[in-house]
Amino acid sequence: MVLVLGGAGYIGSHAVKMLLDRGEEVIVVDNLETGHIEAVGAGVKFYNVDIRNYEALKAVFEAHAIDAVMHFSANSLVGESVKLPIKYFDNNVTGANVLLRVMSEFGVKKIIFSSTAAVYGEPNEVPITENCETKPESPYGESKLMMEKMFKWVDLAHGIKYVSLRYFNVAGADSSGTIGEAHVVETHLIPLVLEVPLGKRKAISVFGEDYPTKDGTCIRDYIHVVDLIDAHLLALEYLRAGNESDIFNLGTGEGFSVKEIIDISRKITGHPIPVEIGPRRAGDPSVLVASAEKAKRILGWEPHLSNVERVITDAWRWHKGHPEGYVNS
Ligand code: UFG
Repeated sequence: MVLVLGGAGYIGSHAVKMLLDRGEEVIVVDNLETGHIEAVGAGVKFYNVDIRNYEALKAVFEAHAIDAVMHFSANSLVGESVKLPIKYFDNNVTGANVLLRVMSEFGVKKIIFSSTAAVYGEPNEVPITENCETKPESPYGESKLMMEKMFKWVDLAHGIKYVSLRYFNVAGADSSGTIGEAHVVETHLIPLVLEVPLGKRKAISVFGEDYPTKDGTCIRDYIHVVDLIDAHLLALEYLRAGNESDIFNLGTGEGFSVKEIIDISRKITGHPIPVEIGPRRAGDPSVLVASAEKAKRILGWEPHLSNVERVITDAWRWHKGHPEGYVNS
């Protein structure tokens, strides 16, 4: 049985669906701070529990024979984390500590968790490999790096094996159109761009066009959420096969500029999507592109859906069908 923490969130809900499709038994824990109960599949055992609540989390482990944990419960907004670092250290770091305590008490020895490209900060080289220096520029990135270090030491002491997956820019949605990205406060480029053809905003702001890139806008590596979860399923197999803890980047190795994303969105939606050029957003590195060679080599991962046309087409299907997210769905 796999315990999915944060299974009501954007990425976690895709994990739940894909685990169920594989025939895995799944239970979900989520505090619904940013998640949506509607995103959890019907019939899935759900606990409205905050992972920092030791007693409540312990009760979940008591009630089920959990073999592995997938951990998606975290706050993940770079900008917010700069303003509210304590919130990030509390939820992400304290949450991980409580979780590790419960896992060690119950002898649960396998965990796959979400890390981030934000651990690298402004990279010294591109594409970024797992060996690149980690120097986060936000409390969010720092909190994820701290989590990675906690897992390393706890593995040494208690033999809890982990796979840390450093995500680049996750986007898109399951092709069913039933689950997708629905943040109350949206900050990510693709869902914001798609709000224009939905009639929810007049134009998309481009945060800076004076970066040292081909068209002056930032370059990112966009990975389809379904490919991302495929890597989690492979990581689960990897841990079940008795392999050692490890860290992997998840990206495609290909970068797209903000203007390219807007252009492709225009083609897919048939909407002119007007642009407003604004100032740079603090803390945005100019280029973030992954080398995912290690995940390919060791996990046997191959992203199949991560071309940006497919990513935006799938995101557009979800947003068109759910312009207000899960409200009234
Ligand atoms: N952008 C705009 N206008 C917008 C929103 C975003 O121009 O309205 C630009 C940003 O400046 C950036 C690019 O679009 O250049 C992508 O921005 P996102 O906010 O979609 O994604 P980030 O690259 O900032 O964030 C991602 C992950 C984070 C992770 C971070 C690492 O979503 O979880 O990479 O830097 F921490």
